[in-house]
Amino acid sequence: MIRTIRSYVLRQGRVTPAQQRALETLFPKHGLPFAPNPLDAKTVFGRTAPLVLEIGSGMGETTAEIAHAHPETDFVAIEVHSPGVGSLLRKIEALELKNLRVIRHDAVEVLERMIPDGALAGIHLFFPDPWPKKRHHKRRLVQPAFAALAARKLAPGGCLHAATDWPDYAAQMESVLSGEPLLEPCPSASRTRPLTKFERRGVKLGHTVRDLLFHRRT
Ligand SMILES: C[S@@+](CC[C@H](N)C(=O)[O-])C[C@H]1O[C@@H](n2cnc3c(N)ncnc32)[C@H](O)[C@@H]1O
Repeated sequence: MIRTIRSYVLRQGRVTPAQQRALETLFPKHGLPFAPNPLDAKTVFGRTAPLVLEIGSGMGETTAEIAHAHPETDFVAIEVHSPGVGSLLRKIEALELKNLRVIRHDAVEVLERMIPDGALAGIHLFFPDPWPKKRHHKRRLVQPAFAALAARKLAPGGCLHAATDWPDYAAQMESVLSGEPLLEPCPSASRTRPLTKFERRGVKLGHTVRDLLFHRRT
């Protein structure tokens, strides 16, 4: 996929001393460097288990909570924002999580280069940047090419769980994901995830949250 428009703008942001320390000392333990080669999850986690990818883990509270609650599943979180990566590394260390690793890189490139087709039991896409201005809509992650890529990486029956508090982005997600031939809506789609940081912000502003769950056709 040739791609010039990214779904994020890298702003420096303030990295706290603790996050910086985590980036330096904990990344080698709990991080995975980006590499343009397929990831061998069995080697990384030392076992065979369902693998779930989270795109845009932000500060990582929800990511760590979900991994802690599901020790039977392995998780890879992807985030470009250094403070968020640092913060998640600290949580992994504090909770002694063996089933969660973090990659600091563009999730689309990670999907394309590091994830073998059919390897994922799930993809979490919680509150992707909404890019509310019309002229920025092209930056939204959920577009037909992304849907095709994500669907290809899911195992048959694997689930893409997206959530947003922007009604027009929810409508876009629904239309794009419904239009992807490999995907179909999960019949018993229910919200099974903890509240995220961005969600709390949206709810405070009176936004309505929508969860969209699509699985790969079997
Ligand atoms: C609105 S925040 C939501 C964070 C978190 N999921 C939550 O709900 O609190 C979106 C996050 O996605 C990250 N992001 C956006 N595009 C990305 C990409 N292509 N690859 C990795 N991270 C990305 C941003 O840096 C940001 O931290």
